[in-house]
Amino acid sequence: MAASILVTGGTGYIGSHTVVELQQSGHRVIIVDNLSNSNKSVLGGIAKITGTRPDFEQADCTDFKAMDALFAKYGDIKAVIHFAASKAVGESVEKPLLYYRNNLTSLINLLELMSKYGTEALVFSSSCTVYGQPDVLPVNEDAPIKPALSPYGNTKQISEEIITDSIKAGARYKASILRYFNPIGAHPSAEIGELPLGVPQNLIPYVTQTAAGLREMLSVFGNDYNTPDGSCIRDYIHVVDLAKAHVVALDRMLDGKSADKLEIFNLGTGKGLSVLEIVETFQRVTGVKLNYRIVGRRPGDIEQVWADPEKANKVLGWTARETVEETLLSAWRWQQKISS
Ligand code: UD1
Repeated sequence: MAASILVTGGTGYIGSHTVVELQQSGHRVIIVDNLSNSNKSVLGGIAKITGTRPDFEQADCTDFKAMDALFAKYGDIKAVIHFAASKAVGESVEKPLLYYRNNLTSLINLLELMSKYGTEALVFSSSCTVYGQPDVLPVNEDAPIKPALSPYGNTKQISEEIITDSIKAGARYKASILRYFNPIGAHPSAEIGELPLGVPQNLIPYVTQTAAGLREMLSVFGNDYNTPDGSCIRDYIHVVDLAKAHVVALDRMLDGKSADKLEIFNLGTGKGLSVLEIVETFQRVTGVKLNYRIVGRRPGDIEQVWADPEKANKVLGWTARETVEETLLSAWRWQQKISS
């Protein structure tokens, strides 16, 4: 069987967009997902865009036996892109053990199996949450890691340490740790996008659901921050730009071009936008009026963070290209499709 890339969480939001980019650049993909927060119908969307339906295995990455059997079945998995994880910050505060078990056990299982089967490379989904509130903006990869504000954030920090320590101890695989800023938007085809279960916790799905009339009103969490308009600032990156960076980081390792066995990259646009700027831009580009009100701060929110993406720009030769206008429009087209 031809060598494949195993994508854990490949039916999820960022995973599905990355599978599309992988297939479009000629990689053979196997998705493993437990479908706890995604739907098998995503495979149809991927097939429509790329003309190829990826192999799919329903399994949980915390199940060592099932994952061992999967590696054995496919024989030649040359790399793993590991998205599968729980990601709701609030839920992680209520159910910390679930988060530690899920996010850490799955990573440890994969690293052990990568050693057992001689898998060459790992791409790992980390988050700008590891920087907390940075002292210097834009934040680069050398900034100090701040104490995590939630069990979810802590799982990302510990995961980075697990990968680092295993490579220090002589593991043969290479790894690329990608620290995402705020991924938003959907594939331009509107065949795949974000499918939040229940009430969205993140800003953009809440905005699009409010615009579509599914939610009464958007709450803007705080206008008394030390920012120009008082609302929080983030670096919003189009999910397709983010997905493309995974392919570049992967190919760099597989082509033997990475300088070190472990590399870390920020994935952001380098531009910060406030919540109120997002609301204003969304209304301007879609022509839809958004009901919103200012409410109190959300506990645990960082005031402002945006990326210094220079390392990824220079070393990977990758740059986020989409404008925020196009990105918000893609999110809106996707929302209209799924709510019609
Ligand atoms: C959050 C997590 C981050 C995680 C990411 C992906 C926190 C502190 N951080 O990022 O670790 O990697 O989700 O799941 O939770 N906002 C509103 N109204 C809303 C929703 C959000 O005003 O209804 C504001 C928030 O206060 C924030 C911005 O919009 O300023 C973005 O929020 P969100 O989309 O939840 O992402 P983060 O909090 O940045």
